Amino acid sequence: MTSYTELGLVNTKELFKKAVSGGYAIPAYNFNNMEQMQAIIQACVETKSPVILQVSSGARKYANQNILKNMARGAVEYAHELGYDIPIVLHLDHGDSFELCKDCIETGFSSVMIDGSHLPYDENVALTKKVCEFAHSQKDYVTVEGELGVLAGVEDDVSSEQSHYTQPEEVIDFVSKTKVDSLAISIGTSHGRTKFKPEQCTRGPGGILIPPPLRFDILEEIEKKIPGFPIVLHGSSSVPIEYVQIIEKYGGKLTDSVGIPEEQLRKAAKSAVCKINIDSDGRLAMTAAIRTVFYEKTDEFDPRKYLGPARDELKKLYAHKNQNVLGSAGQA
Ligand code: G3H
Ligand code: 13P
Ligand code: ZN
Repeated sequence: MTSYTELGLVNTKELFKKAVSGGYAIPAYNFNNMEQMQAIIQACVETKSPVILQVSSGARKYANQNILKNMARGAVEYAHELGYDIPIVLHLDHGDSFELCKDCIETGFSSVMIDGSHLPYDENVALTKKVCEFAHSQKDYVTVEGELGVLAGVEDDVSSEQSHYTQPEEVIDFVSKTKVDSLAISIGTSHGRTKFKPEQCTRGPGGILIPPPLRFDILEEIEKKIPGFPIVLHGSSSVPIEYVQIIEKYGGKLTDSVGIPEEQLRKAAKSAVCKINIDSDGRLAMTAAIRTVFYEKTDEFDPRKYLGPARDELKKLYAHKNQNVLGSAGQA
């Protein structure tokens, strides 16, 4: 049993309070390996941003949870070595059972998500409440994110064909019964690099897909019901066309890619949205950099020579997000 404080981590409580009142969002970046962790920490130290390191159950299976835990400890020390101690959260992304959340809490996670969004409402309430009771009764309070409304796309072990927007009428009841610390909502974002079907979009110059806007009306309704309560947006990659084009130029095929425009995320971050989840954009950045190396240097076979440029590109992307999209730069 390890408490997150022993690892030098923090929970989300204070970070979210400041982010809601300050009109910015904390970045929640997924990581599975050393290069991703280094890029996240380099970008967040350079921009003086707090950060949430997110681990999906897929990441746990891929990398081993003890290794990830020790990488989070390493991340704290790495930030210190880089010269600036930023607040770092280790968060379970899309936990799908009480047992998984408990396991992560006992391993040293400072925050967990219990995603009961695919369950009938009463079951979602009961499961989320059970996780909150356990997390909040730890010697060091562990924060819990719940979800209401379903995002389309694949959420690791949780998948859905269709999205169902969060119903504003349910949020007061859900938050007061479960005692969650933050709430993920569905207002039109979704996971992965194809966030909308082409028939849901219009076309811009060169046939580029232009997505329908997020449902800010639903967000406003929710904010009226639970003023100042921390709101989370999943599926918030912007799917930069530049990366898609590089990947396709060097042999990839990423048909119908479309994400959430950055200016809409900036607008959301100014509201009670205080955590924005980004994974797919990082995957695109790394893949574009690696494909470029493989194309330009056909005799290259040292992993450091392609993972290094991938890490540099990822760092550049995350620094840009903190500065220009989430507004978290300078807040650590
Ligand atoms: O929401 C899902 C995240 O992008 C994590 O993806 O389950 O493939 O690690 P993953
Ligand atoms: P993207 O697929 O849009 O990056 O979303 C990631 C996410 O929501 C992780 O929980
Ligand atoms: Zn998600």
